[in-house]
Amino acid sequence: MKLSISRTYLCLSIILTAACNKDPNDTKLQYLPDMADSPAVKAQLEYLDPPEGSVPSSAILYPATADASEKALQNPFLQYPEGQAEKGKKFYNIYCVPCHGETGKGDGLVSAKFPAPPDITTEAYAKRGDGFFFHTITFGVRNMPSYGHSIAAHERWLIVMYLRELQKAGK
Ligand code: HEC
Repeated sequence: MKLSISRTYLCLSIILTAACNKDPNDTKLQYLPDMADSPAVKAQLEYLDPPEGSVPSSAILYPATADASEKALQNPFLQYPEGQAEKGKKFYNIYCVPCHGETGKGDGLVSAKFPAPPDITTEAYAKRGDGFFFHTITFGVRNMPSYGHSIAAHERWLIVMYLRELQKAGK
């Protein structure tokens, strides 16, 4: 009995000595590396902030200005325009009518209380390319709020299709 106790102590001390690493700079002996040694994120650090200049892999990059967008962006629905303006009408009526009014002349209900929007059916606006309107809806302009976060890209293009109808009617 006495012998077996001292044997247990001996075993224990061997295990403990083996487990203790004398030099902290020595590479640890690892059995199945686990999460303890992963590059863990420290709590309270703003680790979600991306490094400066980085772009999410899912990002859609648009030209920086409405003028640049007008030159660079193509309305995908121009290739098959049939019935698209009708679909755009639905979105125009939801998102634009409150300020721009049903006809696009800028007489929406909100315009009495908010900086009045311009008539976007004039000749000058009719001459602008689709990308100009797409950019304006996406990022807003001066007093107009941006809608890029709430209106999907294809819906924004559909709105532009309908805007063309309003411009034809507004002549
Ligand atoms: C909350 C009110 C409001 C809503 C909603 C709104 N706009 Fe505007 N919009 C404005 C105002 C105000 C201006 C004038 C901005 C300025 O010059 O300060 C404007 C300007 C514009 C212009 C002219 C931009 C320029 O550079 O001349 C276009 C085009 C336009 N809006 C399209 C739209 C479309 C399309 C929608 C719907 C997706 C929409 N807007 C929704 C208020 C609104």
